[in-house]
Amino acid sequence: MKVDGKPYRTIWVNGDGWSVEIIDQTRMPHRFETVTLKTVADAAHAIKAMLVRGAPLIGATAAYGVCLALREDDSDEAIDRARDLLIETRPTAVNLRWALDEMREALRNRPRGERLEAAYRRAAEICDEDVEICRSIGRHGLKLIQEIAAKKPAGEPVNILTHCNAGWLATVDWGTATAPMYMAFEDGIPVHVWADETRPRNQGASLTAWELGHHGVPHTVIADNVGGHLMQHGQVDLCIVGTDRTTASGDVCNKIGTYLKALAAHDNGVPFYVALPSPTIDWTVHDGVKEIPIEQRSGEEVSRMTGRTAAGAIETVTITPDGSPVANYAFDVTPRRYVTGLITERGVAEPSPEGLAALFPERVGRG
Ligand code: MRU
Repeated sequence: MKVDGKPYRTIWVNGDGWSVEIIDQTRMPHRFETVTLKTVADAAHAIKAMLVRGAPLIGATAAYGVCLALREDDSDEAIDRARDLLIETRPTAVNLRWALDEMREALRNRPRGERLEAAYRRAAEICDEDVEICRSIGRHGLKLIQEIAAKKPAGEPVNILTHCNAGWLATVDWGTATAPMYMAFEDGIPVHVWADETRPRNQGASLTAWELGHHGVPHTVIADNVGGHLMQHGQVDLCIVGTDRTTASGDVCNKIGTYLKALAAHDNGVPFYVALPSPTIDWTVHDGVKEIPIEQRSGEEVSRMTGRTAAGAIETVTITPDGSPVANYAFDVTPRRYVTGLITERGVAEPSPEGLAALFPERVGRG
């Protein structure tokens, strides 16, 4: 993705060869600022405080967090301590555990003197693999958009609804849900994206709108409750959302509110697709509603809102009465019966144990 004409990934190793640079997403869309991570504690803070967010980017940041820990101490105990610190940062996105397992595998049985280099090598591979996965998801999702475009009168846009930010900013590059949109746009297919605002943290209004705008993709930000109305009036051709954890049976956990959009899509016969990189599949769980841990965050994310004043200052205001209790559930689970298809890097899978097993036979039974 280009920002001000310069190509960017969302995470990279600096010229010093060891410190790690990220984009501080808590400042967006008002400021585009980067932050340097120098310790494993910096990486853990960046994930927990959501300077970086989105399942694949959380995994990539954790991988570099292990590298930063190894710079200080490359003992087995230090690797375990880094893992314990990082795994606690966010409970729902399974890419975190996946990336930490990958790092442990890469470092296992290596002599201490070789571990640091091996860690940076594997973390860089995890990032490169994510870019390729997203690119492939984009190609498979593009075909779905092309099919819909072919049935519409020439020049009429394909209207795609998305929730939260499963975009460039949530991955290393391209995004998952956004990759098909970017490819369709670059292919000359007229697309228009409805970006759900995504309360309470507004990832749709702040991040998805920002990156679609920078890419030139036509889009409209809508309040979270609008999608059902648009679907009833034929203004949504398909939904594409991301996921933080998808079970081996095809249940999809994603940002809070995704389930309600899937219900509305089902009621209105609108195809509901989930862009699913394989590291986001949790092969150890089968019932998403019962088994996936749902993160609960500070009530202040609900009771307060931050924005930019006309004078350009960033201000936070409270929107609830003093003393009203607030609950903040960050994710929900969409049962597979409401999902039309899972767009993976290997193709579109039916949301069922058989559908996922057919595309990833090597993973079946391996946990
Ligand atoms: O709480 P967030 O902002 O990390 O939640 C992000 C999402 O829900 C995304 O849809 C998901 O991580 C997929 S990102 C490709």
